[in-house]
Amino acid sequence: VLAVTSAVRADDYPSHPITIIVPFAAGGPSDAMARVLAERMRTALGQPLVIENVTGAGGSIGVGRAVHSPPDGYTISFGHLGTHVANGAVYKLNFDLVADLEPVVLLPSNPMIVVSKNAVPATSLKELIAWLKTRPSPATAGTAGAGSGSHIAGVYFESVTGIRLQYVPYRGTAPALNDLIAGQIDVIVDQTSNSIGQVRAGTIRAYAISDDKRLASAPEIPTAEEAGLKGFNMVLWSGLWVPKGTPKEIVTRLNAAAVEALNDPAVKKQLESQGLKMTPQDQLTPEALGTRQKAEIAKWWPIIKAANIKVD
Ligand code: MLT
Repeated sequence: VLAVTSAVRADDYPSHPITIIVPFAAGGPSDAMARVLAERMRTALGQPLVIENVTGAGGSIGVGRAVHSPPDGYTISFGHLGTHVANGAVYKLNFDLVADLEPVVLLPSNPMIVVSKNAVPATSLKELIAWLKTRPSPATAGTAGAGSGSHIAGVYFESVTGIRLQYVPYRGTAPALNDLIAGQIDVIVDQTSNSIGQVRAGTIRAYAISDDKRLASAPEIPTAEEAGLKGFNMVLWSGLWVPKGTPKEIVTRLNAAAVEALNDPAVKKQLESQGLKMTPQDQLTPEALGTRQKAEIAKWWPIIKAANIKVD
């Protein structure tokens, strides 16, 4: 009996609840997307998917926890361009983001949005950049930690505009957003799905999105290029991974459940209303996520290493 139960059984998978490790705070954009998917994947798999928020160090603590879990399909690593690409250039990780993980599915993409507290005296991106440039000391920018999406987007924004920011790390952009609303920090270069509700409510101000097209769900916000800033193009895609060595049939099963969830019109509507862009159908394979992750490592690591980010 022992030998049977300790082996990875693909035939009766899943026979008990699955954990999705979200490496950022509850209520943030990663957590929100994971919860929408978990709910619908439960129907597809016949078992609950439980979210565990394991935060810290730009998401690398939570990813490490998933990497070192048994490769049996019961622990899933939720992450994105920050955690599964940028972190490898920022931290000395005790695991390899590509070799130690098995891609499952490429999840929807989030354009980044430049937002500020309402007290900032700017009404356009140009005015915001001028304001940021003339601060006696750098303005404060909330992030979800070094190497997170909001941090990398901030570094990219600095490099395109020539401004300097003073980063304030949080355990996710949910708590960072709370401090922005309260006026305790100046700006966030945030995932759109995190900020858009507060922008609509008028509690913070939006200047531009880092995409080539305006959002269907918020057409009043200009693209960076329309607002006068060229070369600020970035979408933060997310994904699901499992530890390396997870049986292929289990990866296939999880992929099918995620694809079923993403193709559900109610899920699609919910994610799109938050500004997210759905994954194209031909990109929904595990291979597409693996290819994307490797291509983005090649693109971003040199940029991040050049920025010389200190994490100590
Ligand atoms: C979060 O959920 O808090 C975000 O994904 C953090 C980020 O990477 O900016």
